Amino acid sequence: MLDRTKNQLLTSVGPGTPMGELLRRYWMPLAAVSEFDAISVKPVRIMGEDLTLYKDLSGAWGLVDRHCPHRRADLSCGFVESCGLRCSYHGWRFDQTGQCVEQPWEDIASPEARFKDKIRIKAYPVEAKAGLLWAYLGPQPAPLLPDWEPFSWPNGFVQIVFADVPCNWLQCQENSIDPLHFEWMHMNWSARLANRSGPYSPRHLKLEFEEFDYGFVYRRLREGMTDADTMWTTGRVCLWPNALFPGDHFEWRVPVDDENTLSVTWSFTRVPREREPFVQERIPAWHGPVKDAAGRWISSHVMNQDFIAWAGQGRIADRTREHLGTGDRGVILLRQRFLDDLAAMERGEDPKAIIRDPALNVRVPLPVAERRYLTGSLSRAELLRHPVLGKQYDGEYPFQAGQPEEVRRAFAAAMGIGASW
Ligand code: FES
Ligand SMILES: [Fe+2]
Repeated sequence: MLDRTKNQLLTSVGPGTPMGELLRRYWMPLAAVSEFDAISVKPVRIMGEDLTLYKDLSGAWGLVDRHCPHRRADLSCGFVESCGLRCSYHGWRFDQTGQCVEQPWEDIASPEARFKDKIRIKAYPVEAKAGLLWAYLGPQPAPLLPDWEPFSWPNGFVQIVFADVPCNWLQCQENSIDPLHFEWMHMNWSARLANRSGPYSPRHLKLEFEEFDYGFVYRRLREGMTDADTMWTTGRVCLWPNALFPGDHFEWRVPVDDENTLSVTWSFTRVPREREPFVQERIPAWHGPVKDAAGRWISSHVMNQDFIAWAGQGRIADRTREHLGTGDRGVILLRQRFLDDLAAMERGEDPKAIIRDPALNVRVPLPVAERRYLTGSLSRAELLRHPVLGKQYDGEYPFQAGQPEEVRRAFAAAMGIGASW
């Protein structure tokens, strides 16, 4: 349980709020590079700020204010030039730093006034990595954008999947350190949704939580497992500050504002040895719905089930009314770490998991329970035998509803799924 003040402290993400300032110390994924094959400007909202993301004609990325400082037109309806973004209302143009570099009428009518020099809009750095576009909204000097090891794994098919989840980011992230829900939400509820009354999934017998440089690891032992199982020896990662890393994919919970979260999944599927070497030319991205045409929550896929849990807690979970048990130890650790880091920031220190040393930021290793399946060059038959990862090779994305047909086809082509399977 948290009192009202702490709940508000941990869930408010706007500029100037303590937690908003903490989260601004990290690079946040907010779009995919491949989205910009078809568009050049996109409106985005992150941590309560309405912004415009663009790729100009020289290929440079920019992230600037949503509204033009002239008379407030929407810059996401602007158009890009060889350098920067131009407002479509009267043509003012801004470079990547937010500086106004052109005012077509003023430049003719009173060039000596150099009015444009006085005009600058909010602008944030953007970097492309692993097919994602990342933004940094914090103070300079910016830390390094983490080079997580899976971003360099060869012979994999990567897809990026988004969803808009109508609730605060923190309850989504608390799910990243909640091993028990797997048994109930994903195993037993799925069985009941499929009209099976049993048997229920093996129960959790032991849980452990451990902090490490880049987050926490949780480890589980369930009925029928030995303590040599990788779920116990390696476990899963609650990645700091706002992601889950279960080994084959990352799930970031990016705060849109206090009451909305962008779910960003980066999912890696190893091609079978028979398809190596495989080099992916383009990382596709798609946006999955959370409700069906009738307005009902979609419950058929793992992440959709998670979305139901998160949004079901309310737009901002009322933690004054919860009752935490021993199974929630990870959630308590996570909250305490954020509270400790808020205090550290007040002392002028960096919060947890900020990387500033370039020598450390090279294929940063993380615990990976299924490492052999993801990096080990296994045959089709061996990959199919894995109880969870094996399901991916059916061809359809098993983790979130709504995969477009062209992505499914690209995946099938990469894996060689077809007559030969
Ligand atoms: S409102 Fe943007 S140029 Fe006038
Ligand atoms: Fe889950």
